[in-house]
Amino acid sequence: MNLLAPSILSADFSRIGEAVKMVEEAGADMIHVDVMDGHFVPNLTLGPQAVAALKKITRLPLDVHLMVERPGDFIPLFVEAGADWVSVHLEASVHLHREVELIKSSGRKAGVVLNPATPVRLLDEILPELDFVLLMSVDPGFGGQAFIPSTRRKIAELGRWIAERRLEAAIEVDGGINPGNAAALIGEGAEVLVMGAAIFRSADPAGVVRQVKEEMRRRERP
Ligand code: DX5
Ligand code: ZN
Repeated sequence: MNLLAPSILSADFSRIGEAVKMVEEAGADMIHVDVMDGHFVPNLTLGPQAVAALKKITRLPLDVHLMVERPGDFIPLFVEAGADWVSVHLEASVHLHREVELIKSSGRKAGVVLNPATPVRLLDEILPELDFVLLMSVDPGFGGQAFIPSTRRKIAELGRWIAERRLEAAIEVDGGINPGNAAALIGEGAEVLVMGAAIFRSADPAGVVRQVKEEMRRRERP
């Protein structure tokens, strides 16, 4: 199943409620929330308070992407706030297994994120534990950057590996995705697409969501 997760990083925060409602009504599957700490990435964004506020205004699952150092310190706060999917960066984590277990034992979906320069093979030990892997297709920190083409190879490699080992992890891809490259990424094995600027900086955010969801449905039909 393919899912579309609009990233609110590029939305207008003075009208965030309307923005979330708009993509929800247009058929979005999740809301992607980018949490940045100013250390792991050179930007600051949202905390648990914002996640709790989002939880009140949408029925969609909240996909919380933690771009923070010491992610284990923050997982309980985001779980408490209502995060449904929680992902931690392999590069930011010393005790990755502990953090994944913490997310899973809280009843939430657990994911590990890889930066563009981090090889897929580093997931060897943790992959069987994961509900999803988030492959970054830009260097994290900002919305609106260009898709890094080598991600394609990583999607294919990870997809083959998950199939060979008969594992369940879904592949999510984040950064520089738009209606022009979404279909190809799905064809290559991406199951969850994050899309920020292409939705929220367009003149017709709902139209972009409908277009990408229609493409996803078309590919699912036999
Ligand atoms: C980047 C974030 C992304 C970002 C994607 O650090 O993790 O989720 O919002 O935005 P676009 O789709 O604009 O690249
Ligand atoms: Zn993200």
